[in-house]
Amino acid sequence: MSKHIVVIPGDGIGTEITAVAQDILAITAKKSGLNLNFEVYSAGGAALDKYGEPLPESTVKAAKTADAVLLGAVGGPKWDQVEPKLRPEQAILGLRKALGLYANLRPIRVFDTLVDYSPLKPEKIKGVDILIVRELNGGIYYGEKGQEGDRAWDVENYSVPEVQRIVRIACQAAKQRRGKVTSVDKANVLFTSRLWRKTAGEVAAEFDGITLDHMYVDNCAMQMVLAPQNFDVIVTGNLFGDILSDEAAVLTGSIGMLPSASLGDGTGLYEPIHGSAPDIAGQGIANPVGTILSAAMLLRHSLAADEAAATIEKAVADVLAEGYRCADLYKAGTTKVSTAEMGKLIAAKI
Ligand code: IPM
Ligand code: MN
Repeated sequence: MSKHIVVIPGDGIGTEITAVAQDILAITAKKSGLNLNFEVYSAGGAALDKYGEPLPESTVKAAKTADAVLLGAVGGPKWDQVEPKLRPEQAILGLRKALGLYANLRPIRVFDTLVDYSPLKPEKIKGVDILIVRELNGGIYYGEKGQEGDRAWDVENYSVPEVQRIVRIACQAAKQRRGKVTSVDKANVLFTSRLWRKTAGEVAAEFDGITLDHMYVDNCAMQMVLAPQNFDVIVTGNLFGDILSDEAAVLTGSIGMLPSASLGDGTGLYEPIHGSAPDIAGQGIANPVGTILSAAMLLRHSLAADEAAATIEKAVADVLAEGYRCADLYKAGTTKVSTAEMGKLIAAKI
C-alpha cells in the first residue's frame, strides 16, 4: 500500500533542504520496499504571497489526510511587518492545532565526530543525549490573548488532561532510554506550574522503572550548560520547551543538524529545529542534515519503518565521520560540500 507524504517547503532555505530530504526519503523507501508518494503544498510567507494567507485550507486538508508531513521552515524579514494573524509563523501554529500535534519531540544528540564544535568543552558535551518533550498544543501560545491601549496579555493555562498526555509520552520515551524524566516548571511562582508538577508526579507513578525529578526552568537553563550529560528526557510546557530546546540545540554546536517530530492522534509533522535562515537562502549552502534526520523520524514514528530510519541515521553519521561538512560546520581539515552534495553523499551510503 502506498503512503502519502505531504511536503511543505515553506520559506528561505526550506525549499532547498526539503528537496534533499524528500530525495533521501524516496531512495530509502525504495530500498526498504516502502511505497511513498509525495505532494508539495504551500505554507508560510510563500503561501501569504501566493494566496493571501499563511495557511491555506487546501494545505490543512492535505496534511490531515496524509500519512505524514515533512516541513522545511517558515518566516523571514520580508513578512516582519504583516499583521499578527497573517504572519508566516501562524502557519506552523495553525498546523499544530489543526493536526492536534500536542507532543513535540526534540532529540539533542551529539555526534562523536562533532564534539569540537560545541561552545562547551568536549568532555562536558561528549555523549550528550537528551530528548526534549515539549507540550505543543496549549499553554501561553494558545491562551487568551490581546491588546487594549497600552496593555497586552497572553494567558498561560493548562488542564490536568493536557499535562497527563504529554507526561505519558515522556515516560514512555524514557522507558526506551535511560529511564529518567525531568519535569521542568516554575512552580514557585505559577499556578499552572503547580498543577503541572502535581500531575506529572501522579502520571510518573503509573510507570515502573522511571525516576521523575522536578526542576525550575531557570535552574534547568543553568544545569543544561553546567552538566548536560545528566539529562535524559525533559518534559515541559510550550514556552519553556521552546526556549530550552534552542539552548540545548546550540550546545551541540550545530543547530542545522537537529530534527524534530510533532505528534498527536493523527498525522505527524516532521521538521528541522532551525528556522528559514533568509541570510543564506538560495545559495545552495544550507545544511540539510536536520531535515534528513527529521525524515528518519518520520519513517520511525509515522510509518513504523524503524530499520529504514536507522539506515538514514547511520548514513548521516558515516558521512560526517568522513569529514564532509556544509558551510555551517566547515573548518580546516574537513571537506566543504553544498546542500545538494551532502544529500548525494548520504544517499550514496543508503
Ligand atoms: C519552534 C519555533 C516556533 C515556536 C515559531 C516559528 C512559531 O520557534 O518551532 O520552536 O515558537 O514554536
Ligand atoms: Mn523555537
